Amino acid sequence: MKVLGIETSCDETAVAIVEDGVVLANLIASQVDLHARFGGVVPELASRAHVEALTPLLDETLGRAGCDFGDLDGVAVTVGPGLIGALLVGVGAAEAIALATGASFVGINHLEGHIVANAIEHGPDLAPAVCLVVSGGHTMLVHMPEMHRYELLGQTVDDAAGEAFDKIARFLGLGFPGGPALDALARTGDPGAIAFPRAMADSGDLDFSLSGLKTAVLRHVKMERSAGRDIDPADLAASFQEAIVDVQVSKTMTAAEERGVERVLLGGGVVANTRLRERMEEAGERSGIAIRFPSIDLCTDNGAMIAVAGASRLSRGESTPLGVGADPSLSLA
Ligand code: KG4
Ligand code: ZN
Repeated sequence: MKVLGIETSCDETAVAIVEDGVVLANLIASQVDLHARFGGVVPELASRAHVEALTPLLDETLGRAGCDFGDLDGVAVTVGPGLIGALLVGVGAAEAIALATGASFVGINHLEGHIVANAIEHGPDLAPAVCLVVSGGHTMLVHMPEMHRYELLGQTVDDAAGEAFDKIARFLGLGFPGGPALDALARTGDPGAIAFPRAMADSGDLDFSLSGLKTAVLRHVKMERSAGRDIDPADLAASFQEAIVDVQVSKTMTAAEERGVERVLLGGGVVANTRLRERMEEAGERSGIAIRFPSIDLCTDNGAMIAVAGASRLSRGESTPLGVGADPSLSLA
């Protein structure tokens, strides 16, 4: 079964084609440079850039995969959550392709895409599992008792992890999006240099809070500067990152133990973080729980994760009626 995946929920126009679990082509037209000078994604600019990029990207993806629109059995597209104008560009194109070719149509939740991205390298049988989804807009723990069924276990009560990474990166002058640059800088610093708070580590639930950590970083810098001391940006980055990673690792492992699952799936852009990957693997080795995450390119937004999630739903006989539209705050569970 050949399935086309289209992802336009935020600032990456992404298209992929998968066939029976194999990625034939997976291309991205990134808008990072367009938004960088504003220090964040400008929704109206994102929608326009998707419109410009999508048609040529579709052509190029079909060419790379060696197929035509007529060869497609299914079309999968992100229907939410995300920026409404951006989402509608992808949904409109996907529905038109499905209508014109007769291919089956399936709408995919972006967060499910991040979780099911694991199927590309780890095989289609991912459930039962506990999943940590950490991206620019989300930080949540979900239980997946079987494929495509989700139960929310906990989530951030304020900022998302990616948002916190981006804000501190901007503060350190590392550009936008700053997650990857902060990760690189942190590798040269000491994660134990500054004892930042581990927010909600002992709250007894599986929720997260990140706004206090952000404030603590800013307060620390102000105090050090007013005392005439220099700040080592690498130590600051490493200590900030460690505080986030510590809580994410411990809550994820607690959730896995509470649910009695033998597998943890990680998904979302922040899973590209080298320290999170390293610490989760260590925790997995200690506990005997299998830790799965996609390779770095498949952690950040991409079309393959939508195509593979769509193929999985279509193979179960599911599809979505045309005209479904998009939901900017679509929830997973
Ligand atoms: O999933 P994603 O590509 O887009 C959304 O769905 O939001 O996630 C993007 C987020 C950004 O905040 C970005 O800074 C962060 O993922 N990110 C990272 C790393 N790579 C991307 N955060 C920390 N370390 C990284 N290596
Ligand atoms: Zn994402």
